[in-house]
Amino acid sequence: MSAQRKDDHVRLAIEQQDGPRGVNQFDEVTFVHHALAGIDRQDVSLATAFAGVSWPVPIYINAMTGGSAKTGIINRDLAIAARETGVPIASGSMNAYFKDPSCADTFSVLRKENPDGFVIANVNANATVDNVWRAIELIRADALQIHVNTAQETAMPEGDREFSHWPGQIEKIASAVDVPVILKEVGNGLSRQTVLAVKDLGVSVADVSGRGGTDFARIENGRRELGEYAFLHGWGQSAPACLLDAQGVDLPLLASGGVRNPLDVARALALGAKGVGASGGFLRTLLDGGVDALIGQLTTWLDQLAALQTMLGARTPADLTRCDLLIQGSLRSFCAERGIE
Ligand code: FNR
Repeated sequence: MSAQRKDDHVRLAIEQQDGPRGVNQFDEVTFVHHALAGIDRQDVSLATAFAGVSWPVPIYINAMTGGSAKTGIINRDLAIAARETGVPIASGSMNAYFKDPSCADTFSVLRKENPDGFVIANVNANATVDNVWRAIELIRADALQIHVNTAQETAMPEGDREFSHWPGQIEKIASAVDVPVILKEVGNGLSRQTVLAVKDLGVSVADVSGRGGTDFARIENGRRELGEYAFLHGWGQSAPACLLDAQGVDLPLLASGGVRNPLDVARALALGAKGVGASGGFLRTLLDGGVDALIGQLTTWLDQLAALQTMLGARTPADLTRCDLLIQGSLRSFCAERGIE
């Protein structure tokens, strides 16, 4: 069941990549052009640091898969691309491994192919502390992601209906592990209230993973015969909206969800993200063109991000937060209604 679900997720996520797209609020974030702001490319660094973590680049491959033969091959190729480009990478939910340890190889391949890279283990908020330790040990993880996904579970035919214990379990896990803990959504966004709450639970980083890219409510609804949860399609807040909403909160933020190109990466960094992740788009490149295509895409994104920083006068990704931005359209309305200056 679990292995079949993993294969369904990949198939439906790729179908979405080809489908019609609504407004992407990254398009409502514009850099004000200053013609004399440019610096020299050799003075630009892509390195980023947060919560005791140092990454050579601010782009990462976000959580996707593992748990079936097919997705083990995907993880192998994602790990090779991460190794060849120095990009950090997260596993898919390791719940499949807790239920059936015989699929361990489909996750451990992430470390086997990428022995020196930054690898993140991913679990859900129901995971026991013992299982979280097993996950970290299996892939010698440098950090842990805990995903929260009430909209996905609600639309999922076999999904959870009990969420009230999640904060307590997140707190237990965060206090028990000795690697940085990243709390993430799966494409519906984290509100300011949620970011403040998880900070109090001992989490060290929040990945807002907003609406606008892969839509898991839609994926799960696509697995139902009657599609009766269509009203949850597009639920939540976009990554730019979440970054604006959580401004000033003393917790490092990562951004993902609907990131399409290096300009979106620069926009998210300018809005305060310490790193920017993508999933569905990278998966599509891998499945369409193989591992060399994904290595090519990641290399181009890093190169073009450095080019943008050069033009914008940002020596580091963090310097992008000093750029002048225009916030327009529906994102501007969101800020006005939320009282964001
Ligand atoms: C995901 N995502 C995800 N997230 C998570 O925390 N655990 C998981 O197991 C998965 N599984 C998964 C499978 C597939 C096929 C995709 C495409 C995505 C969600 C992912 O990490 C991310 O939060 C969202 O996909 C939004 O980013 P994109 O796809 O819009 O770049």
